[in-house]
Amino acid sequence: MSWNTFKQHYLSINELDFALDYSRIRFPDGFFQANEEKVQSAFSAMDALEAGSIANPDEGRQVGHYWLRNAELAPDAETQKAITEALGSIDAIVKDVHSGSCAGDKGSFKNLLIIGIGGSALGPQFVADALGGPKNDRINTFYFDNTDPDGMDRTLDHLDGQLGQTLSVVISKSGGTAETRNGMLEAKYAYEKAGLDFAKHAIAITGEGSKLDTIAVEENWLYRLPMWDWVGGRTSELATVGLLPAALQGINIVDLLNGAKAMDAITRVKETRKNPAALLALSWYHATEGKGSKDMVILPYKDRLVLFSKYLQQLIMESLGKEKDLDGNVVNQGIAVYGNKGSTDQHAYVQQLREGVHNFFVTFIEVLTDREGNSISVDEAGNSTGDYLHGFYLGTREALDEKGRETLTVTIKEVNAQAIGQLIALFERAVGLYAHLININAYHQPGVEAGKKAATNILNMKKAVCDLLEKETPSPLSVESIAEKTSLKNNEELIFKTLYRLAHNPSSNIHISSDKNPTEAEFYYQ
Ligand code: PA5
Repeated sequence: MSWNTFKQHYLSINELDFALDYSRIRFPDGFFQANEEKVQSAFSAMDALEAGSIANPDEGRQVGHYWLRNAELAPDAETQKAITEALGSIDAIVKDVHSGSCAGDKGSFKNLLIIGIGGSALGPQFVADALGGPKNDRINTFYFDNTDPDGMDRTLDHLDGQLGQTLSVVISKSGGTAETRNGMLEAKYAYEKAGLDFAKHAIAITGEGSKLDTIAVEENWLYRLPMWDWVGGRTSELATVGLLPAALQGINIVDLLNGAKAMDAITRVKETRKNPAALLALSWYHATEGKGSKDMVILPYKDRLVLFSKYLQQLIMESLGKEKDLDGNVVNQGIAVYGNKGSTDQHAYVQQLREGVHNFFVTFIEVLTDREGNSISVDEAGNSTGDYLHGFYLGTREALDEKGRETLTVTIKEVNAQAIGQLIALFERAVGLYAHLININAYHQPGVEAGKKAATNILNMKKAVCDLLEKETPSPLSVESIAEKTSLKNNEELIFKTLYRLAHNPSSNIHISSDKNPTEAEFYYQ
């Protein structure tokens, strides 16, 4: 790679302490010219989106996450007011909690339990880990981000004896997500078992009038904050969803918002080569042939950014992974995203990246500042641990390049609230632009909804099967006869898997009659 090529493909934005190096993406000659019209059309689509068009046609919704960091951009006064008021409410809540004027039954809040999933958890988790630490955190944060009973027990063990000083924030835009509802009920039960009133320790962040909102009103929870239908879950980190937890933790949310706002301004620039979001989108377009033919590996060389790949995995895969394009054609689009952190991953899957199947491109995240303060030397040459980390990044980049593996590098000066806001905004817009290049709706999630429906069907089936066994107590029945008696023929496999798990959980009262091959066994209720 020549120095000149690097310079031509290195976009440095000094005022943001940010750079994008796309010199190691092997664009064919004339690529930018050939795609310029498409990119300009994507810019126009983003302009329309920001102006309030129905950019999510399947759900008939506006897409307004860019307004969150610049309320003046919102298309009407009511929306502007809603954004500004929500920021004011966050500020007031945080002041109350930090000053102790809003406290739990056992004293001022020292823990935060966030109950949410998907877009209502991944952003808060990423930001908390990137910007938090024992030195500055005002509150210790815990999560229920699943409906795994053991997972919740483990979290509650950390909070044992401390629930009276634990503030629960239940986050669900729709207010009806099963995992979150279950988490809320488990939390409520735990508070009650400890002799505490959950409502006096709970805040809801949800859509007005949702099931969760109704519960919060009826039970008189501490506070309610809005989530709007024009903000998608996976782009809600800079809405109430992400801002309240971050501010409670002591993170400077004004910096977060300003970072995003500044990146928004840069990524609105219509000159493709000066727009890092457009360059990212075009790199993805080339690297994956516009059809997800290669996976995106995210490799930040910084422990604080370890959750960035998980965050981006949702943002990118839930947004781009679509069966149909906007014209209704079956396209099965998407880009698979995974990653963790360097140099740790060099001792794991990077071996395959370098020498194995060539089905990926890498996005490195380089952080220029090693740490606060000075470092010791760790070898005779005077190298520090940070020198090694950077050496490993550069070495891996070279090693991949030698083998024709394409890489991008995003460089930031340090991991601070401004930079995190910038990164969120950068990838949000890259996703929006790329979605336009491939003509898909990035803002709905029919696959997630389909999964929710399928789970409901399974739970209905479980009820029918358990009701039958209870009625037939104590007679053991085979899977086949259960299927016949419940008119669930052709569902034998699902019946078996449901009952076999129940037989391992005593509170179900379902038992398995023998220990021969389980598929041949009989089940009974007792
Ligand atoms: O990005 C999305 O839209 C989803 O991942 C949602 O955030 C997730 O399904 C949780 O939904 P809700 O916030 O409505 O509980």
